[in-house]
Amino acid sequence: MATTLHINGTDHTVDVDENTPLLWVLRNDLDMTGTKFGCGLSQCGACTVHIDGEATRSCVTPISKAAGKKIVTIEGLAPAGQLTALQQAWIDEQAPQCGYCQSGQIMTASALLARNPHPTDDEIVEAMSGNLCRCGTYTRILAAIKRAAASGAPLDVVSAASPAASPSASPEASPAALAGSTRD
Ligand code: FES
Ligand code: FES
Repeated sequence: MATTLHINGTDHTVDVDENTPLLWVLRNDLDMTGTKFGCGLSQCGACTVHIDGEATRSCVTPISKAAGKKIVTIEGLAPAGQLTALQQAWIDEQAPQCGYCQSGQIMTASALLARNPHPTDDEIVEAMSGNLCRCGTYTRILAAIKRAAASGAPLDVVSAASPAASPSASPEASPAALAGSTRD
């Protein structure tokens, strides 16, 4: 059955079962592999995309539920070759370690800042609590979100090039700093 999905400003028509999770269509049919598979059970956040502006787990979202809505993936967060202030903050704070969870983290963070441009630490922790990171980058993610919020326009495009990363960034031992003590 043909289904048309509006993704990153473009219509894509796919001929797959309407119960197919959006994640699989993004990755297997549309070659948008920035959205990651982690658990497939709505437990980790690696597959997060925006649907009508809401951070949504694409692994448990059938394409029948996404059709007709505005879908944004990590590939569509900013124009090609450019970065939003949030993405730049991610680089400046050297947030990723292995990187696997990070597109989902950024998509959740950008949805947060779209509805709440100046969140408190507690609001950030609450919003990000469903996105797991096996590398324990939680304190750098917190710092990146705060840096972006402080920039005043975290979702606006700021540059086409990446300035040098902050040398002050360092690995942290405790994910509890961002998301409680049971997230390893
Ligand atoms: S892969 Fe979707 S929440 Fe883990
Ligand atoms: S950076 Fe490795 S899982 Fe998050």
